[in-house]
Order: sequence, then structure tokens, then C-alpha cells
Amino acid sequence: MGGGVSEATSALPGPVPVGILDLAVATGHHVLDLDDLAAHNGVDPAKYHVGLGQDAFSVPAPDEDIVTMGAAAALPLIERHGVEGIRTVLFATESGVDQSKSAAVVAHGLLGLPSTVRAVELKQACYGGTAALVAALGIVARDPRERVLVIASDVARYDLDSAAEPTQGAGAVAFLVGAHPELVEIEPASGLFSADVDDFWRPNDRSTALVDGRLSVTAYVDALLGSWDDLAARGGPAPHEIDRWLHHQPFTKMALKAHRAWGKHAGAETSDDDLATGFTYNRRTGNSYTASVFLALAALLDLDDDLDGRRLALFSYGSGSVGELLTGIVKPGYRTLRRTDAGSVAATLDARTPIAVGDYRALHASHSGPGSASSLDRENPRVTTGPFRFAGVTGGARRYERTA
Ligand code: HMG
Repeated sequence: MGGGVSEATSALPGPVPVGILDLAVATGHHVLDLDDLAAHNGVDPAKYHVGLGQDAFSVPAPDEDIVTMGAAAALPLIERHGVEGIRTVLFATESGVDQSKSAAVVAHGLLGLPSTVRAVELKQACYGGTAALVAALGIVARDPRERVLVIASDVARYDLDSAAEPTQGAGAVAFLVGAHPELVEIEPASGLFSADVDDFWRPNDRSTALVDGRLSVTAYVDALLGSWDDLAARGGPAPHEIDRWLHHQPFTKMALKAHRAWGKHAGAETSDDDLATGFTYNRRTGNSYTASVFLALAALLDLDDDLDGRRLALFSYGSGSVGELLTGIVKPGYRTLRRTDAGSVAATLDARTPIAVGDYRALHASHSGPGSASSLDRENPRVTTGPFRFAGVTGGARRYERTA
């Protein structure tokens, strides 16, 4: 036997900066205006706009799901950067469509990725997207020649007429992780906080989540403060060394509450204006679970022109619960990667088709009523204008197709 170290591995370069090279966003075909929901529910609209900090939420068409949204988010990345170096696709979701086959494998096929790419789905409530990011950073640190495609995609669905109903939503963010990032370099230290708590969960036989709303709010704040303490203990930045904050946004007011609590805890002065730019997209999509904090990042990178070299704090919370606080430095020139015109997030959100409350309720009910079993054969109506559609089910298997 020889020395055992192959030429391929012995040639690995030393540690390099790793982070996000580029990111892109997709959402559902429809939008429900929360003024309409408030009128239907007999609620003062200010409760939704001010009390929760939400204006609307995305509603996927019958021929859309987490796979079509996730692949649609990833497509512009593949079109701009190609597939070179990609050897892993990680798909984070908590609204998965199969108990065994990963959404990553289906997205891999739809995107035409090479067979030399591993494909895996990750789950821990809304934290899954950040778990995928951290795993991707590790893969790239191990071999900086590799790139990882991360897709975070979710449909947030609660029971009709429940207190959580106005906090539903849908969306996907895809990003490429690699060495020498042009967008955001992620710093090595992170803060962690895990605790087994029943604040939000979705048993296998349910299409809507169960939630203890009050408990979820305190569990979120506990996770932020715990993550901050851990980050500080691991040599993280002082409060004044953080230029911008991004939080998981189940509803944007939640991020404000948590940020105020962090300010008291860390002895830092905070203002509600600190977070406003990062709320821009989430206020319009509603909760996109795993994608939510990355949608906040997308908004900040699109709308804040003063980020060169600035340090971001990015807090991810997944019920159940896991919190992680990462920090990253925005690379000078990030503005050149912005998508414009029809490819911009603003245009994507503007292009959604409004849905009336009655139609939204019927669509919602179709996911849990009789005949909704996901393994029943069917043809789905042709509604989406996105690049991929969920065409139907044949022999129990979901069929997807490229539309354009
Ligand atoms: P609710 O019954 O609507 O609560 O449920 P509320 O009556 O307390 O009202 C909410 C706010 O509106 C209050 O403000 C009211 O004062 C205000 P606050 O005191 O909290 O600052 N309000 C008004 N404001 C202006 N004008 C008015 C008016 N009326 C009332 N006229 C709850 C709220 C969050 C419990 C519910 O929406 C819910 O259960 N949501 C789902 C759970 C959730 O999102 N939890 C967040 C933390 S957990 C998390 O982030 C994880 C998650 O994303 C899942 C995952 O990890 O996978 C959910």
C-alpha cells in the first residue's frame, strides 16, 4: 500500500474566506392583501399592519409548492454563475412534500445539475436554512474549490380563522456558498442556543402547523439572548461593532420585540428604525420560514447603499427550538450583483396576482379537506407563471415540469 494521500486531496489550499457569493428570491403566484383578511375577520386592519407589522402574504397557486418556488429561486443563480464547482445542493424546508425523497433531488433534476452533485433536504423548523448555510460553509472550508447551492423554501400554513392566520406566507431564497465571496463573508464565530420546547410543530398527518403563539414569542427571545451570550463568550463582536441587524421574521413585529429585548440584555441602544429596511420584503410575503431571514438579507443588500465593509448580525430562530447568531461582512461592490427590472424582488412581488379572500379560503381548504391526500393521482390546473410547475401526481409520484 502507498502513502494513502491522493494528489487531489494533498493539493488542497489553506484556510480561505468563505460566504455567500450571490442570492436570489422567488415567491408564490398569488397575494392576499391583509386589509381584505381584516375586513373578512372583522378586525381593525391596524392590528395586522402595526400590531404584527405585516401588509400581505403570498399564496402559492395549485401548481406551485416548495419545489417549484425553490427551483425558481435557484434558476437565476445557475443562469448567472453556471454549475461549475457545485457538488452539493442543500434544500432546507419544514413544509416538505415527501417523507423520504428530498426536495433537493427534484430541484437538482429541474435545474439540470450534473450527476456529480449530492442532494439533501434539511429540517429544523425555520432554522433549517441557516443549518444549510453552516453546513455549506464547512464543505467549502474543507475544499475551497467547491460551491454549494443552498435553497430555503417554505409555505407557512396555519388553520383558517386562527390567531396565526395573518402570519402565513410563502417564499424561497437560494444562494451560492463558496470561497472568496463577492457578497457577504461569514465570520467564523457563531452563537448557539437549543432548547426542547413545544412552541410550534406540525405532526406528520397535518397540513397546518400547531402553535402556542405566546410561548413561541418568549422562546424566540430566549433563543436570541442565549445565542448572543454564546457568541460573546466565543469572542464575537461587541454591540457597537455590529452595523446592521437581520432577524428571522415570522411577522416583522416579532423581530422588533426581540431586538428591543436584546438591547436591554446587551446594554445597547436600539431604535426600531434599525430594522426597517430588512422588513421591506417580508412585510409583503408573510412568513417564509427557512427563507425568512435570507429574505431580510436580500432586502438589505438591495435597498441599503451604505454597506461596503459593514458587519451584519444575522439571527435565525427555528421553533422547537434552535437559534443561531452569525455575523458577516458585506463585500465592497455588492451593489453590482443586484438584480434589476423584471428580475428584481420588487418586480417579482408586484407581479403577483391578487386573490380574493373566498378563493384563498377555498385553496387553503383544498390542502386539508377530503381528496387532499398528496399521493392521490391528479392533474393540477395550469396557473403559475413561474419557470417550473407541479403538474400533478401519477402512480403516487409528483410530476414537475419546466414551463419556459
Ligand atoms: P394575536 O392573538 O393576534 O395577539 O396573536 P394579540 O392580540 O396580542 O395582537 C398582536 C399585536 O397586535 C399586539 O401587539 C397588540 O397590542 C396589537 P404587542 O402587544 O404584541 O406589541 N394590536 C393592535 N395594534 C394596533 N392597532 C390595533 C391593534 N389590535 C391589536 N387595533 C400571535 C399573535 C403572534 C400569537 C399569532 O399571530 C401567532 O400565533 N402567530 C404564529 C406564531 C408565531 O409567528 N410566533 C413567532 C415566534 S416563533 C417563530 O418565529 C417560528 C416560526 O416562524 C415557525 C418555525 O420556526 O418554523 C413561527
